[in-house]
Parts: sequence; structure tokens; C-alpha cells
Amino acid sequence: MRSSHLCCLLAALRAMAVCTSLVHAFQAPMRSIPARNTLHASAASEGDSIDKNPRPTNYEDEFPLPDFEVPELRQLRWEREALAKGKYASGDALYELRRTIAYLRNELIDTRQQQQIVSISNPNNKRMKHRISELEKELLELNGRDAEFVAAVSRELLAKAKSAGDEGLAKKYSAQLDEARSQIPQFNLHGLWVGKYGENGYEMINVTYSDDTLIATKLTGDNNVPKGEISFTVDLAHSTAALDPIELNSKAAKQWGKSFLPRFVGKGQVAAEGFVNPTWLEGQLILVGRFFSFAWLPLGHQVFFGRPSSELTLKMLRESKSNELRSDHVAVMRDAMEEAWEESYWIEREADNFFDEDGSFE
Ligand SMILES: *[C@@H]1O[C@H](CO)[C@@H](O)[C@H](O)[C@H]1NC(C)=O
Repeated sequence: MRSSHLCCLLAALRAMAVCTSLVHAFQAPMRSIPARNTLHASAASEGDSIDKNPRPTNYEDEFPLPDFEVPELRQLRWEREALAKGKYASGDALYELRRTIAYLRNELIDTRQQQQIVSISNPNNKRMKHRISELEKELLELNGRDAEFVAAVSRELLAKAKSAGDEGLAKKYSAQLDEARSQIPQFNLHGLWVGKYGENGYEMINVTYSDDTLIATKLTGDNNVPKGEISFTVDLAHSTAALDPIELNSKAAKQWGKSFLPRFVGKGQVAAEGFVNPTWLEGQLILVGRFFSFAWLPLGHQVFFGRPSSELTLKMLRESKSNELRSDHVAVMRDAMEEAWEESYWIEREADNFFDEDGSFE
């Protein structure tokens, strides 16, 4: 049977260590890591899946990591982020927090107005003053639990410190900005995602950021918008003021584990066959826990994206590459070797999961 023949070929290839660099790069971690979710997170967002430094054992409790090696830099980043996570509200709690803040802010405005028209000799004046200072303190504390608020304030202070030439202060606010941003989900979607583009089937995108703009570049494409082109962009500046979250009914809320889904304004690219007449349409990105969707609004077209498993990532990137290489003689041979490796790999793991069960962002 073909599959057993391919398995032999695979075994032989492994034994001889005849690997292309790509195969080689992924082979070791793929076979030694029990939990795919962590591998894909590392392979996808960091591009450094071959880690050399051993992980100290005291990470076990905070991070449910499989037994594999993580570079020191990333360990430090995780440590910082775990600390930051406790500081900020997330998910539905963030919307409750903002509701409370809005309520208290109104009370503050009212009390200030009243206090101004009450004469100083009136005993109510003192009481109001006291309430005002209480409200100010409370608002300061509550706003400090909203990572987007802290990021916005830090960005402003950073700009001021920079223009004043105060390097020490600039460094402080820059670190504060980074820390807050690390806890804002829409700023932490870096890396690879897979979504089904209607009739065009599954496609892979790479999410990167340029300042406050999220950019989704196609790593695999189709006849309309090909590989290498931008699929969509999202404007994340001033996001708190932009769009109200989608509020789910209780049944859907139960299913997703949250009632409020944050939304952001974007632009989605479309084109006729052959990337003719590319056009940018109004769009929206919606965060749904560990997934997100992007909608091309005028078309009523919505694509859900999930983190690909490491297996799917390899498969899609290789397929896309092998299509490209067919015109090149040497490349065609290498291509054939890769395909053999790949096919056997896939036969071994048929019916394996397409997407990760556990998301890496939550
Ligand atoms: C995704 O983008 C990042 C940042 O530009 C880059 O380092 C990485 O190699 C890209 N990933 C792939 C698979 O192209």
C-alpha cells in the first residue's frame, strides 16, 4: 500500500537526516512536544520554535507548559505579563468596570456643580468636598485597572517626556505602555491565523502591527487577493471611543463564556480574478475569546479566524510554497522530496485536529 511505502520513505529520510531546512527546523519540536497549543503559539507568534535554554522548574505552577525548552527572554516576558494580568480587568469584567467608571464620573460632575453653588458656610459644602475627593480617588484607582486607559495615558506622557528631552521618564512611560499593551487582546494577535474564505477555502494570514494599525497579510492566497497582499487592516487607535461591543443573548453568552464582544473598525481588501481592480471595503474585526472574525460589511462576508495547529501551519505553508516552485528544475525535485515527507506525515496523522483546541490568547 502507498501509505506504508511512504512511511518507510519517511523513516529512511529521518534516519539519513536528509531534511530540507524547513523540515529540519520543525521536526524536533514537533515530535517532542506533547501539547500542540504551546508549540503553535511559539512557532506562530515568535518564529523561534527551536529553543535552546532549559526552563527553570518554578514555572510549573503559573504556566501549564509541556516539557520543552523556552528561551530566557520569553520566560521573562511571560513573568512580566503574568504580573500585569493581575492588575487589569479583562473580558466582561472590563465592561462592568467601564460602566462603573461612567456612573461615578457622572456623580463627580454633578457633585462638583452642586458644590459650586452651595455657599461655603453651608455644612453641605464640606460634605460635598469630601465626596468629590473620594470620587476622584476611586476613579483614579478604577481607571488604573483598564489597560486601554493606562496605555492611552502612558502614550501621552511618553510623548511629553520625549519632547521635554527627559530620557529617564520616557523610559518609564515606555515600559508602562508596553506592559498595558501586553494586556489588551486586540494588540496581541500577532502571528498566524487560519480562516475559511468562502468558496476560496482555508487561507492563512500573518497579523502584524504598525503603531495602532493591525495588518493581516496573506501567507496563502487565492485568485482574487493573492499571497503577499494585505487581506485587511484594523484601526485600533482610540478603540474605547469607537464602537460599542456586541452584546450577546444569554444563550450565546453561555456558549462563548462572555456577554460582550469588542469590535473595531477596519478595511478589507477585495479584487476581481487575477488581483484586478483591488478595492478596500468597510470592515469590522470582532474579538470572540480565542477567535476573531473579520467582516467585509458591504459584501456581508465574514471570516472566522482561529489559531492553526502547528501541523496545519506546516501543511499550508508548504503547499503554498510547492505550487510556486514548480517552474524551477532543482526546486521541483526538492519539492517532490518535501511532498513525500509531507504526505507520509499526513497519512500518519489523518483526522488529526485542524485547529488547536486551546487558544493561546484569552
Ligand atoms: C509574520 O510577520 C512577522 C513580522 O513581520 C515575521 O517576522 C514572520 O516571519 C512572519 N511569519 C511568516 C510565517 O511569514
